[in-house]
Amino acid sequence: MCGIIGYTGPKDALSIALEGLRRLEYRGYDSAGIAATGPTGIDVWKKSGKLVNLEAELEASDRGAATPTAAIGHTRWATHGVPSDDNAHPHTSQDGRISLVHNGIIENFSQLRSELTNTGVEFNSQTDTEVAAHLLGLEYAKDGDLTAAMRRLCQRLEGAFTFLAVAADQPEVIVGARRNSPLVAGVADGEYFLASDVAAFISHTSEAVELGQDQIVTISPEGIALHDLDGAAVDGKPYSVDWDINAAEKDGYDTFMMKEIHQQPTAVADTLRGRIDQHGHIALDEVRLSEQEFRDINKVFIIACGTSYHAGLVTKYALEHWTRIPCEVELASEFRYRDPVLDRSTLVVAISQSGETMDTLMAVRHARTQNARILSISNTVGSSIPRESDAVVYTRAGIEVAVASTKAFLTQAAACYVVALHIAQRRGVMYSDEVAAVVESLKAMPDKIESVVGNGESIRNLAQHIAAHQRVLFIGRHVGYPVALEGALKLKELAYIHAEGFAAGELKHGPISLIESGTPVVALVPSPAGRSVLHDKMISNMQEVKARGAQLIAIAEEGDDVTASHADHTVYVPQAPTLLAPILTAIPLQYLAVEYAGALGHDIDQPRNLAKSVTVE
Ligand code: M6R
Repeated sequence: MCGIIGYTGPKDALSIALEGLRRLEYRGYDSAGIAATGPTGIDVWKKSGKLVNLEAELEASDRGAATPTAAIGHTRWATHGVPSDDNAHPHTSQDGRISLVHNGIIENFSQLRSELTNTGVEFNSQTDTEVAAHLLGLEYAKDGDLTAAMRRLCQRLEGAFTFLAVAADQPEVIVGARRNSPLVAGVADGEYFLASDVAAFISHTSEAVELGQDQIVTISPEGIALHDLDGAAVDGKPYSVDWDINAAEKDGYDTFMMKEIHQQPTAVADTLRGRIDQHGHIALDEVRLSEQEFRDINKVFIIACGTSYHAGLVTKYALEHWTRIPCEVELASEFRYRDPVLDRSTLVVAISQSGETMDTLMAVRHARTQNARILSISNTVGSSIPRESDAVVYTRAGIEVAVASTKAFLTQAAACYVVALHIAQRRGVMYSDEVAAVVESLKAMPDKIESVVGNGESIRNLAQHIAAHQRVLFIGRHVGYPVALEGALKLKELAYIHAEGFAAGELKHGPISLIESGTPVVALVPSPAGRSVLHDKMISNMQEVKARGAQLIAIAEEGDDVTASHADHTVYVPQAPTLLAPILTAIPLQYLAVEYAGALGHDIDQPRNLAKSVTVE
């Protein structure tokens, strides 16, 4: 939610900031702006709409009188104030000496705004951020120390924020601050970066420094310094980023989403790689929980949002079946407000691709206050949620740029299967040969995923055929139900139409009245083998909607010779154990959303009103 980049060093800071914004645009695209400093002071360019508008503006201007020595940039997902040029960041202090960009929400901004207005400060925007720009300007005017001014600013603010600021009379210096929002530093020879994520600077350096909560960071070509809010020097945590620049490119695909769909076989293989040793012992990445603590778990809560929540719902079926521990799955945004019953024997599993989703982070913190154990599943090393967890499993999916998650869902489910097996093993509730059998099935999944990914053409034709409809329903039973929810979410966010997922058995209790002649209904059909009762029930539910005029699209297992005669179109996926099937059946629905939205001419990677990483509550 908003991307920020700062650069100081010998190269053209303006171009580097612009390049960083291009890589961060997936975090928000309501407006973009840059402030660059040089011998003549600060130049600011900002424009509503996507980054191309800012690029055109820069093209048309003389890009500042001199080559800038430092620059800060921002790409916005609007919270306070409509997307407009005035509300675009950077914002500048009343005296014009300070410019600042911000990611997050300043919760006490209206009180601070009234205070400032009463002292004669004039505001040019509706944003909460402008309050910080004016306050920082006033603090800076006291002693000309930008780092100390930032510290004093942060002490006055409530909420979540990452700031980057530059001052006209210190053209090589950038000061940043971090509370509850992401910020990482990039370090190269005589040049330094600050950004929301490493994608912004990965083409320049893979050496990064993780910043902690409530820290102030100052960069200049001379070096990097970190302080806490009391002014004491602190150490950052250095690490090397292990993916290359190509990870942030489309690699010949039309969209990042198509690239990421095609990466799924490798991504899932990477999630599973090295987790299971030759003795069948399943290992997690970072575990600060003892064997005994795992054995003591008597309840599991999974908390997550959006697609990650759907991966959590899939996990519930596997976790309860394999571990026999009761498991509840909750939307993170609801969790802490209903006073859940937790204690030290409760395991809270937080699933978050970005590791920064504010709703999930706040739910984790609430669970921690109740003494629950926290295990997180994340794709982002060193992000806030893993840092605040007792154990972590990284999904190793590689950067996901498209706003609509694809490989996140599959890899999260795969990682959760590993966690469930780990718990089952620790508690001794599964025989080792049972664990080994599931592990073998899991290891076979990447090849099966590959074969579904390779079958995109059949969906392409199908999607174009049904794209005239303004409503699409998805139905499923058992693990097919969360997949139905995920399919509907994908279609909603990309195609902007009414799409809804239902438990197939629930349709007759109300939603079936939505069906009109020709309404497309996508049915996730369970395997006919083993759980044939479920399969039979699903066929009945399909007949119920068919009888009311629905156009039925079935996602069925290869070898299912019953389903096709009940559906208008059938897409087959390879056979897999029921609990693992979601990481196959979700893929046709990803394609469906891409093709459907593509036929409508929508932006696939950056759907309207959304942002990749949601760092506000
Ligand atoms: O980074 P997270 O996994 O915490 O993100 C949670 C949701 O915002 C995310 O899954 C969102 O629903 C997807 N972009 C939808 O495709």
